[in-house]
Amino acid sequence: MKIIVLKTAEEIGIEAAKIFTDEVKNNPSCVLGLATGATPVPTYNKIKETFSQGGISFKDVKTYNLDEYCNLPKNDKNSYYTFMHEQLFNGLDILEENVHFLDGNATDCDAECKRYDDEINNAGGIDIQLLGIGNNAHIGFNEPADEFTSGSFKVKLTESTINANKIYFDENPMPEYALTMGIRQIMSAKKIVLIATGPKKAEAVRNMIEGPVTAQVPASVLQEHDDVVIFLDEDAASLLKK
Ligand code: PGA
Repeated sequence: MKIIVLKTAEEIGIEAAKIFTDEVKNNPSCVLGLATGATPVPTYNKIKETFSQGGISFKDVKTYNLDEYCNLPKNDKNSYYTFMHEQLFNGLDILEENVHFLDGNATDCDAECKRYDDEINNAGGIDIQLLGIGNNAHIGFNEPADEFTSGSFKVKLTESTINANKIYFDENPMPEYALTMGIRQIMSAKKIVLIATGPKKAEAVRNMIEGPVTAQVPASVLQEHDDVVIFLDEDAASLLKK
């Protein structure tokens, strides 16, 4: 694991965005795995800024998002579909047919998960996967569990995740279920970039980096990946021994 500690979320956004925009410049038809939440917003802002300066196109880039809520209309303000368009896609020249999501409203979730996994495989797999981390060390919506998951699946969200995300749900109650990529699938990305900022993430970060590899700390599995870059601000890094 390559661990980079920077002072602010904005500085992290600049460095993380550069990894993605360099990939798009070098490999214009790359496949990107994307994340939602507050953490990636500075990175997405910087990617949009770099795009607006010219010399880079996302027309041949494909994206696959990590997860989506169940039983939330696609165009709800809190769907991850809406989030990604507002925070990133609307500011790029990416094609709508190249952005991909799990359909949290599918009637047959197993079939939907299989469709998504097959699509990612048929696209050649993910070149770079962006991740945040939950207060409980989840990645995607892989909550602490008895064993590491493999492909996409339907998950019941834990109280920790519901408490962290329900602040965004002022009209409708927050969904209790979501579809998410599985751990082994995330691990099959060629490169992984994880960002954690703020003091609430410090314990999860310590357990991810310095604790044992266990499905009770889903992000700890990243210790087994050979190309992971972890960006931390000083608060998120504050409990690390080294
Ligand atoms: P956050 O979510 O960026 O909103 O803290 C991260 C996550 O739950 O993975």
